[in-house]
Amino acid sequence: MEQVVNKEIDFRLGDNIALALTCLDSRFISHFYPGDLTSEILIMEKHGNAFARIYWYNDDNETVYLDWLSVDPKFREQGIGKDLQLIREGMGVCLGAKTSCLWVNKDTWMHEWYKRRGYEDWFDRKEQENTIWMRKVINADRQTSDPVPS
Ligand SMILES: CC(C)(COP(=O)(O)OP(=O)(O)OC[C@H]1O[C@@H](n2cnc3c(N)ncnc32)[C@H](O)[C@@H]1OP(=O)(O)O)[C@@H](O)C(=O)NCCC(=O)NCCS
Repeated sequence: MEQVVNKEIDFRLGDNIALALTCLDSRFISHFYPGDLTSEILIMEKHGNAFARIYWYNDDNETVYLDWLSVDPKFREQGIGKDLQLIREGMGVCLGAKTSCLWVNKDTWMHEWYKRRGYEDWFDRKEQENTIWMRKVINADRQTSDPVPS
């Protein structure tokens, strides 16, 4: 059967970097790095008290990945970690993604922390024991690139 890709998603994930950067508030600075296979936005709290990253594969038009979330122990429990999640998910939507993914050590409080933020267990990582990929739909209205019958 002949298949066509939905024209509504005929753009490259990450084209809208300028819009994504508007998700940051004045507490944070950022750096965009367009790589060959993956591209990324690094986010740092202005005084270096927290940082996080969002990245995506240049050949995947649907998914962003969140990692490197870290808040200085002196500044924890003030909502900075939660804000960095929300900022990066907002960026993911601006970049054109449907789904946000991350991995975590299984059965830890962080595993529960991500579940409280809407992430669901996806599959066990084979690279490292007791770690698991989680994912969350951040833009349910986004069309998927699954080929549809003509
Ligand atoms: C995870 C981390 C980024 C959270 O940052 P933060 O700014 O303290 O986060 P917030 O203030 O937004 O949220 C604090 C939450 O963590 C929970 N929490 C903090 N320490 C906890 C602990 N030791 N055990 C259980 N829950 C804990 C609080 O109950 C709160 O949960 P809630 O908002 O769902 O009620 C920070 O703890 C950190 O940098 N940890 C080390 C690096 C790390 O583990 N990164 C994640 C890799 S997957």
